[in-house]
Amino acid sequence: MPATLQAFILTFSTLCGSTVVSGILSSPTNVRLTSYNMNLVLTWNPPKGAASGLIYTTEYNTSVIPYRVGCVNISTLNCDFTRLNTSMRPAIIEYGKYFGRVRAQLGSESSAWVESNTITMDKDTIIGSPNVSLFSNGATIEVSIKDPVFAVSTLRNVYSFATYNITYWKNSQREKTRHISNIQQNRVVLNDLDPWTEYCIQVQINTERNPKPSKLSGIVCESTTNEEAAPWVAAIVTFVFMAMAVALVVVAVVYRERISNFLCPKDALPQHFKEYLLAHPNSTIYMDMRNSHPPEEIYHQISIIADDRSVEGEVPLEVARTACSKQCDVTVEER
Ligand SMILES: *[C@@H]1O[C@H](CO)[C@@H](O)[C@H](O)[C@H]1NC(C)=O
Ligand SMILES: *[C@@H]1O[C@H](CO)[C@@H](O)[C@H](O)[C@H]1NC(C)=O
Ligand SMILES: *[C@@H]1O[C@H](CO)[C@@H](O)[C@H](O)[C@H]1NC(C)=O
Ligand SMILES: *[C@@H]1O[C@H](CO)[C@@H](O)[C@H](O)[C@H]1NC(C)=O
Ligand SMILES: *[C@@H]1O[C@H](CO)[C@@H](O)[C@H](O)[C@H]1NC(C)=O
Repeated sequence: MPATLQAFILTFSTLCGSTVVSGILSSPTNVRLTSYNMNLVLTWNPPKGAASGLIYTTEYNTSVIPYRVGCVNISTLNCDFTRLNTSMRPAIIEYGKYFGRVRAQLGSESSAWVESNTITMDKDTIIGSPNVSLFSNGATIEVSIKDPVFAVSTLRNVYSFATYNITYWKNSQREKTRHISNIQQNRVVLNDLDPWTEYCIQVQINTERNPKPSKLSGIVCESTTNEEAAPWVAAIVTFVFMAMAVALVVVAVVYRERISNFLCPKDALPQHFKEYLLAHPNSTIYMDMRNSHPPEEIYHQISIIADDRSVEGEVPLEVARTACSKQCDVTVEER
């Protein structure tokens, strides 16, 4: 019965039309979910023989929460779920177990979803390197450690028992390394060092929960100086200061006569100079200034008496006041 079969095939293809269409576009490949410093990034390769102009949409879920929208209609080949603009804050939690998936789109066609591996944030994230600074002080070096910045939460919040493993060596003897481990403080003083020697230091973070080794810090080097340097310099400075003070006192005692002569001279001023200074000035301007009196101020009495009559009654008062300000000797009275 070819007709029946034909009808069946037609019906089937109509029913499954959308699935068939969405299957036309091949799917992204090599889909993987990774985490570095507590971010969560889905990365993929384009489908084999992909046309240009493909866009991608991603989603993520946890073992208990169904798929949520991640990046939509993007043309890049990765999506950072910790940088999404979602109303959920944070979009990713530090102990979650996540899956991601991605599909390609071209016009109205979509590929099938491709699921990723799973990532448990605190167990699988790769912890980046700490940032190390050194401060040399005599024959000791202070190591100051800054934790890597996490995309979600902080190192100390996620791993409360994180410790530092500090490795250090003389720059001239790379093979002879020494370690201090299980350090919880982020400031450590190395004090078993030789003076006048350059040491290099590298730090690694250890967490108990995360089995992956964290990234080593960059190697930083610093030289020690002489331990005795600081007290010795201080002693010399004190000695020089005391010697100068003693010398000053001696000079003051030996030359006290000359110094007092210089400060309070015994020689008197010439007589005519003294007279000149004491004489009354007789310039006429000065005399005028001395004899002048402050200008006399003239006052006139003004009384203003309230007028509770109608508005027209106030007009003459206004006039009178104007006149007053000019003639200045008016007494306004109630009419
Ligand atoms: C999340 O996705 C994975 C892989 O696709 C799936 O096995 C799991 O059941 C999904 N979780 C939920 C809650 O749907
Ligand atoms: C998130 O939203 C801000 C403004 O609200 C916008 O500038 C930014 O481009 C958005 N980022 C993404 C990845 O959509
Ligand atoms: C993504 O692109 C599809 C067509 O390719 C369009 O229908 C859809 O509205 C777009 N979504 C967003 C959020 O831009
Ligand atoms: C380390 O810290 C210093 C000072 O705070 C800063 O200048 C430097 O950029 C940091 N390095 C890294 C790799 O974060
Ligand atoms: C510290 O690091 C060094 C070298 O990186 C390693 O040999 C040593 O075993 C580590 N110590 C601990 C306790 O992890």
